[in-house]
Amino acid sequence: MVDYIERLEELKKLIWEHDYNYYVLDDPQISDYAYDLLMQELLEIENAHPELITADSPSQRVGGKAVDEFPSFTHRTPLLSLGNSYGEEDLREFDRRVKSDLGVDKVEYAVEYKIDGLSIALSYQNGILVTGATRGDGYVGEDVTNNIKTVKNIPLKLRLPAEIMEARGEVYLPRASFERLNKIREENGEPLLANPRNAAAGSIRQLDPKIAAERDLRAIIYNILYLEGAEMPSTQSECLNYLKEQGFTASAPLVSDDIDEIVEYCKSQGEKRHELDYDIDGMVIKVNSLAYQERLGFRAKNPRWAIAYKFPPEQVKTKLEDILVQVGRTGVVTPVAQLTPVSVAGSVVSRATLHNEDYIKQKDIKIGDTVIIEKAGEVIPAVVEVDKSKRNGCEREFVFPENCPECGTPLVRLEGEAAIRCPNNIHCPAQVREGIIHFVSRDGMNVDGLGPAVINQLYHAQLIKDAADLYYLTKEQLLSLERMGEKSADNLLKSLEKSKNCSLAALIFSLGIPLVGLTVAKTLAKTFGSIDKLSKTPYEELVAIDAIGAKIAQSVTDYFTAERNQEFLKRLKLAGIKMEEESQEIAKNEAFAGKTFVLTGTLSTMERKAAQEKIESLGGKAASSVSKKTDYVVVGENAGSKLNKALELGITVLSEEEFLNMLS
Ligand code: IVH
Repeated sequence: MVDYIERLEELKKLIWEHDYNYYVLDDPQISDYAYDLLMQELLEIENAHPELITADSPSQRVGGKAVDEFPSFTHRTPLLSLGNSYGEEDLREFDRRVKSDLGVDKVEYAVEYKIDGLSIALSYQNGILVTGATRGDGYVGEDVTNNIKTVKNIPLKLRLPAEIMEARGEVYLPRASFERLNKIREENGEPLLANPRNAAAGSIRQLDPKIAAERDLRAIIYNILYLEGAEMPSTQSECLNYLKEQGFTASAPLVSDDIDEIVEYCKSQGEKRHELDYDIDGMVIKVNSLAYQERLGFRAKNPRWAIAYKFPPEQVKTKLEDILVQVGRTGVVTPVAQLTPVSVAGSVVSRATLHNEDYIKQKDIKIGDTVIIEKAGEVIPAVVEVDKSKRNGCEREFVFPENCPECGTPLVRLEGEAAIRCPNNIHCPAQVREGIIHFVSRDGMNVDGLGPAVINQLYHAQLIKDAADLYYLTKEQLLSLERMGEKSADNLLKSLEKSKNCSLAALIFSLGIPLVGLTVAKTLAKTFGSIDKLSKTPYEELVAIDAIGAKIAQSVTDYFTAERNQEFLKRLKLAGIKMEEESQEIAKNEAFAGKTFVLTGTLSTMERKAAQEKIESLGGKAASSVSKKTDYVVVGENAGSKLNKALELGITVLSEEEFLNMLS
């Protein structure tokens, strides 16, 4: 063999081994510098002889091209989800049920972390990673192979022989990497990511793998979905050992047949979870024997052999130093607790909501109190209780201000409402700013790089007085702001330009019409197809729509009749914002025209005949058996052999919900 071919093989093996030592065993054997030299040498040979590049080469972790959209991927084994339990009693009940279903009095379990990331499936053929896909609806996900390859502790090549192996796990972003990423985003004026889970999911769904590669993603693998050409282990804990031998970072389980020990273990892991460098939101308890798992089987979408124990929201005590009030977009004034900073659920909290004046009275909360605060997942932290035993007489009663802290207008409390409002609406700077923040938010016009801080700056510099002004900003104006560089200004202008084409539903939502959330906005967009038509629709017609009640209809009519709003919409239109959507019917017909559908199982929301007629009325064909010519198989309850045939032929499988989405 030619020297460089031999050397290339040697380099690949060395780098795989060093990756394994570093990322999986956490036991690096060489310096970063020595590793870089090996990588450089490999790249040089591959550059000179591109025909030698193989899919499992370490260079291929970032070699993927950007794509326009991800192809769909049908899972060979559906990726189901778990039933939740929240307390000790639920776990004991699970244990009793498993034993009684199996007719035995002793069952061994494997207890693992429930990783709060993004569920993925990996397929290897002859030891080489060929596909990485998201879970999707459990049956069909997205093929995100190029992004999965950037996850450094997912092997591109298995260590032991296996013809086909498919495994399931969770991709996550270590907490430290998440914080680093957000720091950079903050410096660049980009919107911050809410939590590591969203960051991981967003990274895996990046169309350009280079971005995913920058994110330092990791994966923990916990299930073997399919194995051919190697012996399948007989228990979950052996599966995890086998996964480790194959080169994965796998869950490390507690194996026990003692439910008391399992309950204790789950509780203690919950208390210690913040010592880990990634987020877990619970524990998963699985029957260890795979033979038992098979006997227990599934119920609807959940296995009978496993359950998730979700951690209760975390509570901590801290001092309530002061209570400030904050004016929201709709004028509601909310009391906010200013706390001595305290660490809870993985982040430092110094503010928490107190909801409204009544809440403070009911709970008898005083400034200076020691309070118990609670935080669960992404929820805003809240003060839930006062520890009255800690009172020393220095606590002060909170008096709700009589005037708006932003514009000084006397506050009002409407009959029957808990909320106190500033009635100054468009003249209250706080409400205007909050309205603009809402306008550009992710579910609204989704303007990247325009956070509250920049909006505040623009508003104070009097460069904007409402959201429409954003579209008339010049680069020079942006550059006049403090800490705004060339690049950020260009990016912001680009994001604004891009937002002009957002969907009609997003535009309607972004207007911030009282009572019009995303769902109502979608209904209005679908029904009317343009702002023009919607704005001219009288109350009677609006209220006749199924999902629109009298209050919403009134709010919508009020909004569009106000002259000021008409003026605002005119300026949006003049700036080039798309104010209508192409006809829904056309888009729908495109999805159905010429396509062959097969229905299997029972649909819960419509008769099969009605579904067939609907397909045909939209230009599709409803067939009775699955063949290569079938485009979609729609599965209802108790789907039979047609589903298997579809999976065999790689035909797109639609759940009832997805089918209804296509129709609507
Ligand atoms: S087992 C058929 N084990 O939690 C059961 N799931 O609904 C397969 N998850 O979306 C799931 N860590 O992505 C299992 N150690 C673990 C897990 C885990 C996280 C996720 C999984 C699923 C959700 C449960």
